[in-house]
Amino acid sequence: MYRSGLSTILASRLSYTLSKDKPLSVKEILKGYYSMQATSGATKSWTGSTLYHELQGTLDGARQSGTFKAERVITSPQGSKVNVEGTSSSVLNFCANNYLGLANHPKVVEAAKRALDTRGFGLASVRFICGTQDIHKELEKKVTDFHGTEDTIVFPSCFDANAGFFEAILGPEDAVISDELNHASIIDGIRLCKAQRLRYKHMDMEDLAGKLEQAQKARIRLIATDGVFSMDGDIAPMQEICRLAEKYDAFIFVDECHSTGFLGRKGTGTAEHWNVSSDRIICINSTLGKALGGATGGFSTGKKLIVDVLRQKARPYLFSNTLAPSVAAASITVFDILSSKEGEELREKLWKNTVHFRSRMEQAGFDVRGGVHGPPIVPVMLGDAALASRMADEMLNEFGIYVIGFSYPVVPQGRARIRVQLSAAHSTDDIDKLVDAFISLGTRHNILTRNKL
Ligand SMILES: Cc1ncc(COP(=O)(O)O)c(C=O)c1O
Repeated sequence: MYRSGLSTILASRLSYTLSKDKPLSVKEILKGYYSMQATSGATKSWTGSTLYHELQGTLDGARQSGTFKAERVITSPQGSKVNVEGTSSSVLNFCANNYLGLANHPKVVEAAKRALDTRGFGLASVRFICGTQDIHKELEKKVTDFHGTEDTIVFPSCFDANAGFFEAILGPEDAVISDELNHASIIDGIRLCKAQRLRYKHMDMEDLAGKLEQAQKARIRLIATDGVFSMDGDIAPMQEICRLAEKYDAFIFVDECHSTGFLGRKGTGTAEHWNVSSDRIICINSTLGKALGGATGGFSTGKKLIVDVLRQKARPYLFSNTLAPSVAAASITVFDILSSKEGEELREKLWKNTVHFRSRMEQAGFDVRGGVHGPPIVPVMLGDAALASRMADEMLNEFGIYVIGFSYPVVPQGRARIRVQLSAAHSTDDIDKLVDAFISLGTRHNILTRNKL
């Protein structure tokens, strides 16, 4: 029976080697290991194992319920039109987080190319060993100036920023009170910390007040919320949250991944959108991977003391590689664009496109969350997972339109949807084509007569 690992094989081969005049080479030793493994039944035991059957069952189940997630392969840069493998011509893209159309902006691409020549490809280090270049510091200063905060720390991604934040800032005596629909990375970040965890119903301020009341004995109370919720396109009621934070002596953490760059007049996010400024918002986490060029990277910006502690304690900062120089340099250019006239025009165009799409869809009778003046994330509610995935396929195959159906576990059971994301890069004609395709498929599947979910 196959029981022994490589070490046992090596030991027996080495003792054989020692008993011979001429030692075996490493190649010969490994050859012996592989031939023994092949005859030992190790492969057979994997395909016959409980683990194998469990995993196969998971995949089969996902296929049957219509929740299986397949990747479509793009062979062009990101943009309002992309080439997708398996389609003959370019398709209209309505599912990227490329809200401002900066993913392939010439100035951004040029800045990345320049950095490749002047700062190289990679740094092969975490930030605090030898992974900090002048451009990383410059980028952190740009983010701080843009948000009007005290300091900023850049992470390899916002997932990392969220994973690092709570554990570094809160202890077991503290409490974190989190919206139930917060992004998975916030949920995971909270799981990693030892603070008491309370969840309030999605954007329900009465429930939040109740949970804050419950947490009054904790040393510190921290409310954690998405700024804009990525699956529903809801905007967190920041005035109310700030008012409750004052009343119950709590602090606020907000994730602005789906708002930085375009929500609010300057594009700084939810607080600006609701016109509130509160000393209690101690940290904003956001991504460089969506509206801000869409490459990769995230940041925490806020109180200097918070950022100082994150630099000492946030594990993804301490134990994961630095941001690539080309991304850091291109992101500096992105912040320059955001603060320029061009940035203002891109924001205006995005909102104009959003209102156009939302009002046409409402007129057509679709269940579209968020109303005419909601954000550029537009969930078209369908309910059934298989229908959402089928309609997304039909959109691509029949109309050359790329959208994605979302279903459980990304959204709750029975609330499957096609999520449309608008961009400043879309033309009015692009949006009209999308609405016309929705109307055609909506009629075919009898969706326009359904009740709102
Ligand atoms: C609300 C929210 N937070 C965090 C993240 C993670 O951001 P990143 O892609 O930079 O890791 C995402 C990305 O999907 C997000 O939507």
